[in-house]
Amino acid sequence: MSNLSLSVKKEVILAPMAGYTHSAFRRLCRRLGADRTYSELMNATGIIYKGEEKELAYFTDEERPIHLQVYGRNPEEIAEAARKMAEKYRPEAIDINFGCSVKKVLKAKAAGYLLQFPEEMGRIVAATVEVLKPLNTPVTAKIRLGFYEDTLEKIAEELLKAGVSAIALHPRTAKQGFSGKASWERVKDLKRIAGDVPVIGSGDIRSWKEIDQKFEDTGCDGVMVGRGALANPWIFKEYKEKRDIKTTLKERIDFVLEELQLMWEFFERERACKVIKAQIVYLFKGIRGKSKLNDRVMRSKSCGELIRNLEFLFSIRPVPTSLLRK
Ligand SMILES: Cc1cc2nc3c(=O)[nH]c(=O)nc-3n(C[C@H](O)[C@H](O)[C@H](O)COP(=O)(O)O)c2cc1C
Repeated sequence: MSNLSLSVKKEVILAPMAGYTHSAFRRLCRRLGADRTYSELMNATGIIYKGEEKELAYFTDEERPIHLQVYGRNPEEIAEAARKMAEKYRPEAIDINFGCSVKKVLKAKAAGYLLQFPEEMGRIVAATVEVLKPLNTPVTAKIRLGFYEDTLEKIAEELLKAGVSAIALHPRTAKQGFSGKASWERVKDLKRIAGDVPVIGSGDIRSWKEIDQKFEDTGCDGVMVGRGALANPWIFKEYKEKRDIKTTLKERIDFVLEELQLMWEFFERERACKVIKAQIVYLFKGIRGKSKLNDRVMRSKSCGELIRNLEFLFSIRPVPTSLLRK
């Protein structure tokens, strides 16, 4: 089956992370140098029957190139959801999630559950490729190594046969969850198998130097940064400028306030303030005295209180060295 080619050349990409990588965070990461973004995962039945995707699919041109990510349990459902999304939002690609293995998703026999059935994964991609051809929208896939065991070769064979335009690999099995270390040597193997189809590696990247290293070690076309970007969105800039950037607490609080403002475009105000708390925990990681900072923020019961608390921290000037990032 012919696939639409997608050009990914040594790109550093913001990984999709449900609950975190909404339009606001994506925009800020693009401004800091991320080359490409992915939406959070969206449920195919929700898209088809309930129009649930609105907030999750919201994006601005600044986030392009963007992949809208869909998950579901069968080819018809996923292809139909993909068609709806591609027609309505015109993203650069539709990505199919075959990696998520949280309980709720596994119970629904969707996403990561499907890693046990490479042929079904192939049928899902093939059906989606077919439906999106008239719209000229490529189909990409985000996978893990397998479910219980590493079955990467079989999975890759099915996806490539089905016409996938790029594969992002988080090289752990679903059963591993986030434990152990990501097996980046398998990204190198996938790159060898995939031929012209771009391969993106994802897992455990915490510094710009590691990004450089992964490109060199594996020859992959893209490196994704997930949790590392939640804790340090400046990692994209660091990579572009090939230097460490030390950020102060003030700069981090500034980041949060800017993110919040952008979130209010598409999130109800109070909900945005709840959602952003999880991001703040990551962002304050590594800052001395962080538990005190987090306490203050987490205790906030409303937007007003959250902002007052952030501004209080903001007003500590000069920022005591004990609060500077280590
Ligand atoms: C909180 C959280 C949410 C995630 N949500 C998604 C998701 O919606 N879709 C997806 O493909 N991967 C998701 N992932 C997996 C990441 O995209 C990434 O592959 C994984 O976290 C490994 O990379 P990292 O070590 O850079 O975080 C999520 C990971 C985390 C930690």
